[in-house]
Amino acid sequence: MCPPEYYDVDYVINPWMEGNVHKSIRERAVEQWEKLYNIITQYATVELIKPQPGLPDMVFTANAGLVLGDKVVLSRFYHPERQPEEPFFKAWFEANGFTVYQLPKDLPFEGAGDALLDREGRWLWAGYGFRSELDSHPFLAKWLDIEVLSLRLIDSRFYHLDTCFCPLTGGYLLYYPGAFDSYSNRLIEMRVPPEKRIPIDEPDAVNFACNAVNINDVIILNKASATLEQRLREKGFQVIQTPLTEFLKAGGAAKCLTLRLTEPILETVHANEPIISRVVEMHGHLLDTGLMSQALDIIVSEGGSFKVLNFNLGVERQSPSSAQVRISAPSQEVMEDIISQLIDLGAVSLPQEEKDALLEVVDMDGVAPDDFYVTTIYPTEVRVKGKWIRVANQRMDAAIVVDDSQEEITASCKILRDLRVGDKVVVGVEGIRTVISPQSREERHKIQEFSFMSGGVSSERRVELLVEQIAWEMRHIRDRGGKVVVVAGPVVIHTGGADHLARLIREGYVQCLLGGNAIAVHDIEQAIMGTSLGVDMMKGVPVKGGHRHHLKVINMIRRAGGIANAVKQGILTKGIMYECVKNNVPFCLAGSIRDDGPLPDTIMDLIKAQEEYARLLKGTDLILMLSTMLHSIGVGNMTPAGVKMVCVDINPAVVTKLADRGSLESIGIVTDVGLFLSLLVQQLDKLAQGYQLTAR
Ligand SMILES: NC(=O)c1ccc[n+]([C@@H]2O[C@H](COP(=O)([O-])OP(=O)(O)OC[C@H]3O[C@@H](n4cnc5c(N)ncnc54)[C@H](O)[C@@H]3O)[C@@H](O)[C@H]2O)c1
Repeated sequence: MCPPEYYDVDYVINPWMEGNVHKSIRERAVEQWEKLYNIITQYATVELIKPQPGLPDMVFTANAGLVLGDKVVLSRFYHPERQPEEPFFKAWFEANGFTVYQLPKDLPFEGAGDALLDREGRWLWAGYGFRSELDSHPFLAKWLDIEVLSLRLIDSRFYHLDTCFCPLTGGYLLYYPGAFDSYSNRLIEMRVPPEKRIPIDEPDAVNFACNAVNINDVIILNKASATLEQRLREKGFQVIQTPLTEFLKAGGAAKCLTLRLTEPILETVHANEPIISRVVEMHGHLLDTGLMSQALDIIVSEGGSFKVLNFNLGVERQSPSSAQVRISAPSQEVMEDIISQLIDLGAVSLPQEEKDALLEVVDMDGVAPDDFYVTTIYPTEVRVKGKWIRVANQRMDAAIVVDDSQEEITASCKILRDLRVGDKVVVGVEGIRTVISPQSREERHKIQEFSFMSGGVSSERRVELLVEQIAWEMRHIRDRGGKVVVVAGPVVIHTGGADHLARLIREGYVQCLLGGNAIAVHDIEQAIMGTSLGVDMMKGVPVKGGHRHHLKVINMIRRAGGIANAVKQGILTKGIMYECVKNNVPFCLAGSIRDDGPLPDTIMDLIKAQEEYARLLKGTDLILMLSTMLHSIGVGNMTPAGVKMVCVDINPAVVTKLADRGSLESIGIVTDVGLFLSLLVQQLDKLAQGYQLTAR
């Protein structure tokens, strides 16, 4: 221990210190420290280190280093404020016969504050996330020859492992689960059986109940609730509470004020290889597209840590940058999560493993191997027999099936239900890369413009500007014989958009229509009865008995034997569906559980409907998604990157969900769909007039 002669809160390096600078009372701190010292000396021999002026936190000797046997790994403090403590602790350890190990200069590790031995000596729990780096853990394993279990801290109030985690005699563990990420909690649960775990609630955690000194069956701590004390007593522990409130102001309590110098060593325990590291290369407009920060965020938020090994900044506006980043993760599972998300980002490659993709054979129809790689919308390549193969039928949420039986190797996306026994499926993350062309600064600006639209209700003027762009695009697609697919919900009819959409179909701007039962039912109701859900579309008032209208038209179409027949028989003479039939525009109506009827054309077998959607979507240039969340999301998942998507919905959340698929080509417009369609028709008319003028 270190007497609190110079103890004070002199600076702020954790949330507890905030607002407490120079607020601790020296006399009270001395009194509290002495009380703790007296209690501990009843159960253990205490050695003291001489305090140093100007080093107020030296009282927290837990952070001097990590001791095991006659070895000590000296702390490398994260904050410059505490770094001057290092030589004093080093001198003490050397003078007392310890072999001192020192980590590389730029690798923070804060001693027994962040590394706690299992009280049975079976392994070392090591924390990271705030003060200690994950990359320090392999050094601990190597030098101390012990298995290291890495735990990630996620709550800044519990910035050191010993503030929220306390291994106890007999294999018990006192801890606050809320301070750890889910992987760490799982690891704890795997190692410590339920009857040995003593999880505590936040009120005890913030009183630093876990920052306890445990000597055999005695637990010395600042404060514990009556319930916690009772629970500990039931497990055979004696709890001694001694107020350490003055030290809590600096974010420390009993355990922080001590460093245990005798730890159990088991001969049978040896080092493991705790941390997995890989180097990834990134290439592209890393800074101005935000790619670099996105990648680093992914690594940290998934529980890994990183070191940027080198960064070459592209100095010209158009020249790309490149970087090498070393990623460390506490387990293979975490590493795979990180790498697969980095692959999705694109521009990331795993250089040292110019390895082939791992393939596993499907052993049950419709079921992939557990670790299958889940595809994204981005063009993807897999490495098979040393060659990079472009994956065909790119879509989201599929598996990649490789056929390497012929000389020409092929790979393609297959959804789970289409997998067959014997198919070779890509598993893990080796030998996979996404090919995203690096975006230029200009393209990035364009995207920002679009994403503005999804941020909230778009102003009328901005909607007009976007509609102008879309009209121009549609005109070009029509002129060159391209393909526009419209996905539409019944709101198109209720908002008065039916005539506009019908016109777009008639004039050749739409090559395919996708939707559900409702768009067709309501369109036909309006065409035959003049109402939409029983409301007169001209007068805007409900018609007597109108609520039955849509059922009547369903019945009529059923009698006619389908929509095309109804057109042929002269029953259906106008509207969206009529124009589709008349102009040979294929449509697919996919069923849902809420469908009335349904119409004979509605495909109620959803697998067939999905297949038909996928077939009709092939070769699409532009998709207009008009006020149907259900069908738009379905379509979005089937569409590879590169297809332009326009999503119109009154609800910003729906627009964001659809437009924000990481795809460059999505435009989200938050507006009324009837208004959108009327503007679109106006713009197309304007363009047509322009063309006529030029022709004249
Ligand atoms: N009678 C029927 O058979 C019947 C009736 C209704 C729906 N359905 C079926 O239910 C399924 C889901 O229906 P859905 O696609 O209508 O529902 P949905 O909830 O998936 O989508 C409706 C979308 O329209 C948006 N919206 C509402 N008012 C708008 C406006 N004025 N302008 C722009 N956007 C607006 C909403 O925010 C919502 O995102 C479909 O398969 C449909 O065919 C059947």
